[in-house]
Amino acid sequence: MARRPITARLSSAEHIKQGYERLPYPGNDLAALSEGRGSLPALTWMQGIGRPGCVRPQRVLVAGCGTGMEAFLLRRWLPQAEIVAVDFSPRSIAVARQLEKKAKVGRPITFLVGDLTDAQLATTIGGEFDLITCHGVLSYIPQPGRALKVLATCLSADGALYLGVNGAGHPTVALRPWLESFGVAVDALRDERRLRELLQLWDTLHDDELGEQATMPSSYLASDVCGGHFNNWPLAQWRREARRAGWEVAGTAVLAPALHIVADDGKEKPLYPMGTGELAERLDQVRPTGFHRIMLRRAAKKHAPSWRWTGLYTVKWSAGVARFYGATMGVRFEETLTAQQAALLQILIEAKVAPAGWARAMGRSDAGRRLLWRWTGLGVVV
Ligand SMILES: C[S@@+](CC[C@H](N)C(=O)[O-])C[C@H]1O[C@@H](n2cnc3c(N)ncnc32)[C@H](O)[C@@H]1O
Repeated sequence: MARRPITARLSSAEHIKQGYERLPYPGNDLAALSEGRGSLPALTWMQGIGRPGCVRPQRVLVAGCGTGMEAFLLRRWLPQAEIVAVDFSPRSIAVARQLEKKAKVGRPITFLVGDLTDAQLATTIGGEFDLITCHGVLSYIPQPGRALKVLATCLSADGALYLGVNGAGHPTVALRPWLESFGVAVDALRDERRLRELLQLWDTLHDDELGEQATMPSSYLASDVCGGHFNNWPLAQWRREARRAGWEVAGTAVLAPALHIVADDGKEKPLYPMGTGELAERLDQVRPTGFHRIMLRRAAKKHAPSWRWTGLYTVKWSAGVARFYGATMGVRFEETLTAQQAALLQILIEAKVAPAGWARAMGRSDAGRRLLWRWTGLGVVV
């Protein structure tokens, strides 16, 4: 009997890497990459929620940088910062380096080949990063928890991690089985013409936050629609994974707008006094987001919290009413404050960090404790 040849089976991580080797993400169009913003949240938000009151990031790590769009954007925002960008696809890094040579702007970015699941990563690329961004990476790897542990070793003491990952409301949750029902394989990009035809039909019927699928570049279709591995998880699952790796959720981009919707007429009552992570998790269960934008900090050691002003809101006063406006989050609300609460808020806005006794004075009454809780969920303080 003829023997079948023994073909080496690729691990799923290798299979994923090969996909990016074939089609580096998001591509090699320098103009598009240098001007593009992708869907990265505003730096003011990352800093305000993750590192309130700290100086602007000096050392930034882009974890899973692809061909460099995220890194180029961060350089526009932080021209003085030292930026290191890492990806496990040598071809993606080669493209990024070529683009970096052509770009000839600002402080050079160091592009390195490295695996986010490699426990030695910090030794190879250096640690002490005060901002790490990891956007659109951990949804496509089989061991996101391992990468979260490794990223923790790369962080400075007051550092924070921005994580952009797929949610349970991601279009591919329904899209991939739907494509399969037409006989289209979704484990790799094969018949692109047929795929785009079907996506046009899908887009016509769909209106989701992640925009039109049919017009996306091939590199997106290969990794974000077709591909070997998908973690389309609710926030609860990402939070569990992050906590196991010693992180805590400092906030999510949808938390303030979602809490704002329910904060009128006492409808938020069942949520009080949940902490930020649980609150965000509960709201995500009701309105599953397609893509989470999460700020993570190292889990706090048990000590009294020191409240900080995030700087994400401007406040205007008139006749005992404080009007809050958070441009980055598109949230406006107002609070009627007692004279003492108004004075305490003024102190925090000016000092940025709550002075000794501030939290005790604020939390003396049930109304004060609720106020502080609401301000935390809305991203006024952390
Ligand atoms: C969808 S792309 C996102 C690229 C970039 N963050 C952006 O938003 O433009 C995902 C990238 O993660 C990289 N990647 C996946 N798993 C990785 C790992 N274990 N270590 C390092 N990079 C990884 C891939 O090679 C790919 O370039």
